Amino acid sequence: MAGNGRRRGRLPLSLRRGAVAWERQHPTWRDARPAVIAGALKRAQARPSGNWYVVGASRDVGGDRPLGRTVAGQEVVVWRDGGGGVVAGPGICPHLGAPLRDSPVRCGTLVCHWHGLSLDGGPFAGWDPFPAYDDGVLVWVRLDAVGGEEPLDAPVVPRRPVPARALTAVYAGVGVCEPEDVVANRLDPWHGAWFHPYSFVDLTVADAPDGPDGSGDPDEDAFAVDVSFKVAGRLVVPVRAVFTAPEPRTVVMHITEGEGVGSVVETHATPLGPDASGRPRTAVVEAVVAASDRRGFALARAAAPLLRPLVRTASARLWRDDLAYAERRWTLRSTGRFPGA
Ligand code: FES
Ligand SMILES: [Fe+2]
Repeated sequence: MAGNGRRRGRLPLSLRRGAVAWERQHPTWRDARPAVIAGALKRAQARPSGNWYVVGASRDVGGDRPLGRTVAGQEVVVWRDGGGGVVAGPGICPHLGAPLRDSPVRCGTLVCHWHGLSLDGGPFAGWDPFPAYDDGVLVWVRLDAVGGEEPLDAPVVPRRPVPARALTAVYAGVGVCEPEDVVANRLDPWHGAWFHPYSFVDLTVADAPDGPDGSGDPDEDAFAVDVSFKVAGRLVVPVRAVFTAPEPRTVVMHITEGEGVGSVVETHATPLGPDASGRPRTAVVEAVVAASDRRGFALARAAAPLLRPLVRTASARLWRDDLAYAERRWTLRSTGRFPGA
C-alpha cells in the first residue's frame, strides 16, 4: 500500500523493489467482474448532470475567436463577453446560417463574418444563448434539449485543489464511441498495469463497489487503487488513487495517499454526434489539477507553460490506448457481441 507512514524523502520518487515482469503480475480479470463495472456505470448514469456538458479548457476561451464545438450534433460557440465571463449559444448565425465558430470576437461581441450581425451574448434575432459556466479549469455549456434532465443552475464540478495553487493541464481527444464507453473504461481500474505498463506498475485494487449494487452517494461508490506511476526505469511514485463518478459523464481520480495528495485527474466525456458513417463520436476532456506541499512545487507551477505539454503528452499516450478500449467496447456493444453486457 502507498504512503503508509513511509518516511518522505527529499524527492517524490521511490525505487521499485522486487519488480515483477509484466507477464508474471497477478491476472486481474477474475476481480474485474463485468457486473461490478456495469453496476458502477449504471449508478453513474443515474446521477444528475443538470444537462451540463464540458466543452473545453477555460484557457482556450478568450482572444479574438470563439471556441466552436459540436455537442450531440448541435453546433455551439463559446466566447468571453466584455466582462470576461463566458457566454455560449448556437453556432449557427440566425440570419443565413453562417458558422459562427469562424467569426471573430471584437470587444466581447461576436461579429458574424458573413453580414456583420453582432451578438453580445444576449438573445437577439432568434438566437438564444445557452447557460455557460467557467469553473476556472473547464468551461461547461448547458443544453437542456440534449440532456433532457431537470436542469441544474451549475454543473457538478469535482472537488479539486484551488486552481491558483495547482498545476493544471487539459488534454482533449476524440474517439468513436459513446460517453458511457469512456466512463466504463475509467471504472475498470484493473486494466491499469496490464494495459498501460509504460505508466503503471504494482497495481492493486484495494476497494471496489460490491457486485452490481453500490451506494447512490458517489463518494461512497468508489474504487480505491494502490499503484505506482512509472517515471523512468525503477523510479516510481507510489500513491493511492480513488475513482468516483460524480455525474454521468465524469470520472474523477483523487490522490488520497502518497505524493501529491489532493491532486485530481478528471475525465469528462462529451458526445459530439455521429461521424460521416453514422458512428458516434465522443470527446474526452481530461483535466489534471496537481497539487503538492513540497517546497519545489511552487517552482513547478512557475514552470507550468513548460510542464503542461509534458502532462498532456502523458495523457495522450494513455488515451491513445484507452480510446481504443472505448471504441472496441462500443463496436462490440453495437453489434451485440459485448461479453460484459
Ligand atoms: S449569416 Fe450571419 S449575418 Fe448573415
Ligand atoms: Fe486506461
